[in-house]
Amino acid sequence: KRDASPFVPDSTELSRLREASRSCRGCDLYRDATQTVFGAGPDHARVLVVGEQPGDREDLEGEPFVGPAGRLLGRALTEVGIDRDEIYVTNAVKHFKFDREGRGKQRIHKKPSRTEVVACRPWLLAEMAAVRPEVAVLLGATAAQAVMGPAFKVTRQRGVLLDAPEEFHGRPELVLATVHPSSVLRAPDRHTAYAALVADLKAIPHS
Ligand code: URA
Ligand code: SF4
Repeated sequence: KRDASPFVPDSTELSRLREASRSCRGCDLYRDATQTVFGAGPDHARVLVVGEQPGDREDLEGEPFVGPAGRLLGRALTEVGIDRDEIYVTNAVKHFKFDREGRGKQRIHKKPSRTEVVACRPWLLAEMAAVRPEVAVLLGATAAQAVMGPAFKVTRQRGVLLDAPEEFHGRPELVLATVHPSSVLRAPDRHTAYAALVADLKAIPHS
């Protein structure tokens, strides 16, 4: 079965992992995307945030969460007393998946398949092993299922601090699932959806 593992160096150095991820061909998503968008942030951040996949802006800039969803995430974290610069941010899938739609051929985000999430998972596990966070914050179903397994339901467990699966050996020790900031941007009642996201993030323990 094809996945990212042949491309992942046996290293806990983020700079080495990031460099190697540029030439990953663990699934077909590298073909149409501009570049690999690896995680970013301090080497040993206490909090590691997992999103779904890079968006249009992230694909062009090569950095995670630099677009509208990232801005909203930064604002929500600030509200719960966490500085965005002190956390490590990454995605379950490291290449942008999209369709070209309309006359302008705008690139429209497409949800990654379970196969793609599983293929990319070795990068996420390598990042966890390198950063060794205390808490992983999982944004939306794709991120939550990448870490907690395919049966996990964000709607049922959002905002609740849970033990991480044993395969992580205590790094992270805890996980917190919530909705994806993009879903807040799309919600009919944005203010209520945003307030619920902030309420969930309040469960992140402080050091
Ligand atoms: N949405 C994500 O899940 N990740 C990003 O990096 C940007 C938007
Ligand atoms: Fe590799 Fe992940 Fe990109 Fe697929 S999405 S090519 S597994 S980095």
